[in-house]
Amino acid sequence: MESNIRNFCIIAHIDHGKSTLADRFLECTHTVEERRMKAQYLDQLELERERGITIKMAPVRMIYTVTHPKTLIPHKSEILNPKLKTNNLGFNVSNLEFADLKQEFVLNLIDTPGHSDFSYEVSRALEAVEGAVLLVDVTQGIQAQTLANFHSAEKAGLTIIGALNKVDVFQKPGDEEGVFLSHPEVARMREELAALLHQKPEDIFLVSGKTGYGVREILDAVTERIPIPKKNEPIQGVKGRALVFDSFYDNHKGVIASIRVVEGFFETTHGIFLAAENTISKMKEIGYFIPELKTTGCLKSGEIGYIATGVKDPGKIKIGDTVFSFDNIQTFSRDIARHHMLLGYEEPKPVIFVSFYPEQSDEYDLLRQSLEKLKLNDSALAIDPDQNEVLGRGFKIGCLGRLHFEITAERLRREFGVSIVNTFPSVEYKVKTKNGWITIVKPEELPSDYFEILEPMILIDIIFPTKYLSSALSIQQKFRVAEMHTETMGERIKLSAKMPLVELVSDFDDYLKSVSEGYASFSYTIGEYEKAEVMRVDLLVSGNSIPGLSRFLPKESLEREARKMVEKLKTLLPRQQYSQPVQASAGGRIIARADIPAMRKELGIFGKNGGDRTRKMKLWKKQKRGKERLKERSEATIPPSVFKELLKKE
Ligand code: GTP
Repeated sequence: MESNIRNFCIIAHIDHGKSTLADRFLECTHTVEERRMKAQYLDQLELERERGITIKMAPVRMIYTVTHPKTLIPHKSEILNPKLKTNNLGFNVSNLEFADLKQEFVLNLIDTPGHSDFSYEVSRALEAVEGAVLLVDVTQGIQAQTLANFHSAEKAGLTIIGALNKVDVFQKPGDEEGVFLSHPEVARMREELAALLHQKPEDIFLVSGKTGYGVREILDAVTERIPIPKKNEPIQGVKGRALVFDSFYDNHKGVIASIRVVEGFFETTHGIFLAAENTISKMKEIGYFIPELKTTGCLKSGEIGYIATGVKDPGKIKIGDTVFSFDNIQTFSRDIARHHMLLGYEEPKPVIFVSFYPEQSDEYDLLRQSLEKLKLNDSALAIDPDQNEVLGRGFKIGCLGRLHFEITAERLRREFGVSIVNTFPSVEYKVKTKNGWITIVKPEELPSDYFEILEPMILIDIIFPTKYLSSALSIQQKFRVAEMHTETMGERIKLSAKMPLVELVSDFDDYLKSVSEGYASFSYTIGEYEKAEVMRVDLLVSGNSIPGLSRFLPKESLEREARKMVEKLKTLLPRQQYSQPVQASAGGRIIARADIPAMRKELGIFGKNGGDRTRKMKLWKKQKRGKERLKERSEATIPPSVFKELLKKE
């Protein structure tokens, strides 16, 4: 029955406590056994747990019981004996009693990531639910991503429940329960959030994911305020219709689609039709998330769960597709089904491009298969084949930001065991040539006879407390920021500006965090293309150009930036037995140079004066291991950490 189902997600700025609040929900609903419970339970990826950030949305089904005490309800015998029904209320009015009325709800929660690079995950989650808990850290207030997520939830037509988290920080030892409610900071934040949501301050919940304060109240509000899933009309020949909002690869079950059923039902005996890819298949399993996979054999209208699609090729699953179930292929029509496809999702637009090559050239196929499986679980990735003279065959990857790129490289290594070599992350440039406009992402692709280069711009919004104004304004000296203007938001300032997208690839994020002691947050939207005053700079080690290390640098700071890069490369690259020059060249001339000194002389096996043989053998073995490691990292293979360091501004 849809009437007892509530689907909702938690949205917030990064680190405002979504996953911790989700933990309390899991405990409160006894979804996860106490002995298995661990902090940020829904962050299942090893990488998420290590970095303390959510990368993937995580659905979970919880059973929540609401007790209405001392309610006038029919006596048990009335319910058990239908013959006693005597009126149109369905029971004998004289046989009522006051008792606790227990009402059971199925709550489908989707925890979402907070970092803007993963906002595509959030937008997909929003389409699968009817409501959202918008969580704001009371010590931070409304941040850039709070606003961005709020606007997305509003656009998706969701019912929004506002909540201030971490209220425990205002509770002093010995305080009575709830004394912090009157703290002026809590009251101020409550008013700010209420104003944003067009609600009354008392409608904003106060909660602590740490202590559990206010958690049940939020769940009660979810059952009361969030609408029941809408019922849709049945479709001829179709048993069920659902939105595919996510997918992943399971080594035992194959390609799995996470679905939200919008009409009818799905049963294991049914066939399925994936409309976008025009694919018919036989399901292998149906179930829901607890948050692990739990087989049920059936999913009904309004529910969220998964289907093991029985499809072998990961390319056949498209996120945002509509999946139909049917029990009779004779009466099922693909055309009728196609007429009832759901709106789906806008294709994500990659903004940062980087090429990945397998570190071991015989791992090309492994890299290809791994990327296909990863894309199932990360539909924001764009993948195209690529070729490099030195690095061989690889893939051009489109990501939604620098963190997204780093996480992708790391997931490939951890989840699929492939090590990669990558080029500098870049953006898409438009170049005017004598044959018209071309688009390039790698500086190496720049033709020698071009007329002008255009680069994508972004419009940024930065929010920070007033006292960090001068620090925030310092971005102007570090990054190519233009059209800066500020606006007061209570005790905080919103700074809006225009900036080339490529500046984000540098450490803009980290810089802002460090100058504002973590109090500034930012979000951005993609703007127009504008003329770029840049030049291509190549880096050479021992006279050989390093593939993937070419960059476009602003003309105004060309030599300064190039000098910094060679100096940095000098400290980052492994030393060899001989000294190596590191050079930067632009427009056919060398504009910067530094030398990597030779490695220090090794000790002879027994040293100059003989000595303890065991100790010397140990040393010799250590040196041998070191050399092997060095060999593994030949000049052409620049580890991702080097790219990251090179991209830092200071
Ligand atoms: P992302 O998904 O990466 O955006 O993070 P998140 O919003 O899921 O935040 P998370 O739950 O990981 O919490 C971030 C930090 O805040 C962690 O260090 C938590 O321990 C802490 N935290 C979360 N809730 C509370 C709370 O109610 N009180 C206090 N004092 N700290 C909290």
